[in-house]
Amino acid sequence: MDASHPDFLTGDAVGIQKAAKLLHAGQCVAAPTETVYGLAGNAFNEHAVRSIFAIKSRPYIDPLIVHIHAIEQLTELTRLDDEQLSAVKLLAAEFWPGPLTMVLPKTKAVSGLVTANRDSVAIRQPAHPVMRELLRTSGLFLAAPSANPFGYISPTTAQHVRESLGIRCPHILDGGPCENGVESTIIDLRDPRAPVLLRPGPIGLEQLKDVLHLSVKRPAPASDASLAPGMLERHYSPRTKLSLHTAGSLPATHTGEAKLLLQRPPNADSQHTFWLSESGNLNEVAQNLFSLLRALDADEAIQHIHCEMPPAGPGIADAIRDRLNRASKR
Ligand code: TXA
Ligand code: MG
Repeated sequence: MDASHPDFLTGDAVGIQKAAKLLHAGQCVAAPTETVYGLAGNAFNEHAVRSIFAIKSRPYIDPLIVHIHAIEQLTELTRLDDEQLSAVKLLAAEFWPGPLTMVLPKTKAVSGLVTANRDSVAIRQPAHPVMRELLRTSGLFLAAPSANPFGYISPTTAQHVRESLGIRCPHILDGGPCENGVESTIIDLRDPRAPVLLRPGPIGLEQLKDVLHLSVKRPAPASDASLAPGMLERHYSPRTKLSLHTAGSLPATHTGEAKLLLQRPPNADSQHTFWLSESGNLNEVAQNLFSLLRALDADEAIQHIHCEMPPAGPGIADAIRDRLNRASKR
């Protein structure tokens, strides 16, 4: 391996075995999930968890998600009363493995380092076959935040991880581009009668309500950033200035400016007009969002991105609007 470049491991049995070995040795490995690439480490190894924070320059106040292979493993990580358990079972039956993270009361086995000293832990059973196989063969619980420097745009390809973390992340397991393109939906189930949507994602609020037969609230606007560190206003941000516009109200662009549309325009004249989907399909928009923002951010000729916002709507529209709003904050 060339010491100046991260080592790409193939997402097959050989690469997954190598990654599992590294994880057992307390090292971190970037790995694909269906949402975004994660920077994985053994959740029960303090050195590994500290490395995750160090590689990302992430403050210790921002807790990590723990990834599991099977729902039976929850008993080791969480202590649930009957109501919490039935809510978890309902949601897991419908959405796991998949892009849903549940915040639950933790057991003592989970270190406060992982949870930012909270008494809750965020758990997800991911669906990506490479990540699932990594969890199965390693037999570990994997703490994995998105594999980007803190505050920057999350990675949806192995190449993105390499570009933004470089040699700080020496091992990257390549599983191709991520299907969802935005991070998992996070639901707080500590009070199972009053669940709270902490982060919109691929699984919409309405879907959660339908399965739980309950209303799911959004959190009150954070008055204290330490209460909701992942909900920091400015997040997922390109360095290039980003302005948001409703359909039809995008300004004419000048030199140094780019237009980012939801759908291919009838006559794409300018070389500085880009689109997130041919047809405007919002799942495709989500899939391509971070990738295009990164590409435009890397383009020296562009100093200002004007992006079209999808109208408020159910499901993925909510997640796209959330990420764009945060990305545009300065
Ligand atoms: O899709 C995803 O969730 C990806 C992939 C890799 O699984 N992971 C991810 O992790 O987005 P991260 O660390 O970038 O975002 C997780 C957020 C944190 O910012 C934090 O706010 C929230 O989850 N979180 C974690 N533990 C929590 C807890 N105990 N209570 C409340 N929020 C928590
Ligand atoms: Mg993140």
